[in-house]
Amino acid sequence: MRTRLALRRLLSLTWLPLTVSACLLSIVSMTACSDGSSELGTSQHSDQQAAQAPQDVAGPAGAGIAIDVYKSPTCGCCGKWVTHAEQNGFSPTTHHPEDLNKLKAEHGIAPQYQSCHTTVSQQGYVFEGHVPARYIHQFLAAPPADALGLAVPAMPVGSPGMEVDDRFMPYQVLLLKRDGSVAIFAEVGSLAQQYE
Ligand code: CU
Ligand code: CU
Repeated sequence: MRTRLALRRLLSLTWLPLTVSACLLSIVSMTACSDGSSELGTSQHSDQQAAQAPQDVAGPAGAGIAIDVYKSPTCGCCGKWVTHAEQNGFSPTTHHPEDLNKLKAEHGIAPQYQSCHTTVSQQGYVFEGHVPARYIHQFLAAPPADALGLAVPAMPVGSPGMEVDDRFMPYQVLLLKRDGSVAIFAEVGSLAQQYE
C-alpha cells in the first residue's frame, strides 16, 4: 500500500514520455497500446529499481514462488511489474536477453498477444505482460491441461506496473492454449479487482 501511494505521488510529479518510448521501442508488436501509453511516465521509480539494479535478482531465495522474467533493461514498467510480483508472493529473477521477440516466439506467444516482458514459471508456463499476480496464482493452482499460460496483450493503463493516478483501462487476461487458440481467463474491470 505504502509503495503504491509513493508511486502515485511520483507519477504525479514526473511525466517522462521518453521512458515508455524506450520500452516500446524494444517491442515490435506494441501498436495496440501505444495510444494509451504514450503519455505515461514511468522511470523515476528510483527506490525499487535501484534496489534491484546491482545484481538484477529480486527477492530473497525462498520468499515466494520462483519465476523468471525476461525484459528490456530500459523498460520502467517492466521493473514495476517485477515489484508487483515480489509484493504478491513471487520471487522473480530478471533476465535481459538480446532478442526478446525471439524468446516470445520460442515460447509460442503469437504477436497479437505479446506485451513488453515475458514471465516463465518453473513448470514452463508463460505469463505475458502485465498480468496481475493474483491471476498467476489462480492459474498455477489449477493449470488447464492444454494451457500455454496467460497473457495481457499490449500494456493497459492501470494494470500492475502501468499505474497512472487512478486511470484504468478495462482489459482481459487471456488464456493461451498450446494449439494457438485463446480463451478469456478473466475480465478485469477495475483497479481494485486486480488486488482482491
Ligand atoms: Cu510494460
Ligand atoms: Cu513489462
